[in-house]
Amino acid sequence: MNFIRFSDLCASGQVAGKRVFIRADLNVPQDASGAITEDTRIRASGPCLQMALDAGAAVMVTSHLGRPTEGEFRPADSLAPVAKRLGELMQREIPVVANWTDGVQVEPGQLVMLENCRLNKGEKKNNEALARKMAALCDIFVHDAFGTAHRAEASTYGIAQYAPVACAGPLLAAEMDAISAAFAQPKRPLVAIVAGSKVSTKLTILKALAENVDQLIVGGGIANTFMLAAGLNIGKSLAEPDLLADATAVIAAMKARGAEVPIPTDVVCAKSFAANAPATVKSAGEVEDDDLILDIGPDTTARLAAQLKSAGTIVWNGPVGVFEFDAFAKGTEGIARAIAESSAFSIAGGGDTLAAIAKYGIEQDVGYISTGGGAFLEVLEGKTLPAFEILQKRADSRPASPASPAHGAVPVL
Ligand code: 3PG
Repeated sequence: MNFIRFSDLCASGQVAGKRVFIRADLNVPQDASGAITEDTRIRASGPCLQMALDAGAAVMVTSHLGRPTEGEFRPADSLAPVAKRLGELMQREIPVVANWTDGVQVEPGQLVMLENCRLNKGEKKNNEALARKMAALCDIFVHDAFGTAHRAEASTYGIAQYAPVACAGPLLAAEMDAISAAFAQPKRPLVAIVAGSKVSTKLTILKALAENVDQLIVGGGIANTFMLAAGLNIGKSLAEPDLLADATAVIAAMKARGAEVPIPTDVVCAKSFAANAPATVKSAGEVEDDDLILDIGPDTTARLAAQLKSAGTIVWNGPVGVFEFDAFAKGTEGIARAIAESSAFSIAGGGDTLAAIAKYGIEQDVGYISTGGGAFLEVLEGKTLPAFEILQKRADSRPASPASPAHGAVPVL
């Protein structure tokens, strides 16, 4: 993927004294009192901001927070708690600027946070006049919001069209690099794990991956539907019988390419959905009508772990069992540990997947952990994200110069 890297601009001294507008994804969860309950995205955005400050820029950063009504400010929509937390992490005061689209006072070496960009009328629909106003605020636009890379809004897409320079911040660049490594020229075999409660929510992902991957490991309720499609009894387990034809089509598409969807050969069952429900390992052919399948069994886990260990590339989205309950967590733990031990390049994303990675402490052993929710899922669906598309377009159309002849070279402003 061809795109301009903000780090290259900084390293070549082209950012000093410039006005830099950074679109981050600081959309963090808050409790009823507004306190931030999880700050990963704020931490992940810090390096780009520090990079801009170190390079001598006048720095503006903005983000959306939630989905407020445009033009109607409510205190709960304010980025003030985010600015406070970011200020603690960066050990500096970060003023929040309201009503900023007509002009922002900021000097080189300063960092200001522009209030929730979704309060601006026209943001969601990528209004051209709004985007042009935003672009006029800066010399360099930096997109560093992978979590929002699947949205074409004024502060993510329009501004990238009209700003003098549009580039990718370090977080977005790392996501783009990891996605290229996993999908553009993956080391084979390419194994994907797609799990979750419903086939319907991930059907487009399953179909897209069936065209490309060598093994498609399914888990959770999705695996139950695939077991049903393979003619197995799944008792009263969560499944979508109306999607059997789709599951069968995915299996057939994989088979036609010489690839496979490994169907569990053993499972862990309970009679009720509860943390303390007695767990029984059964072969896949022995599931009874009143059983609930809550995890894959030890044989299946061992077989899949062996496949993961010999994979070239692994894409992971979703735990394979009810890993929140210890009695039904062994499958997910086995998969997680196999990914950690595999020499394959691995990329993982999605809320539950991140929770499983944290539970088993394998953060350092996963090749890349994506910060995107919906954006990561759209990548798995094979879609080109608007952020990638516009940054590539801007990089492709930059004027040729001896200093910017090709991908990876340092561009000139
Ligand atoms: C997310 O939380 O997934 C991103 O911040 C995108 O938020 P959105 O779905 O409201 O656009």
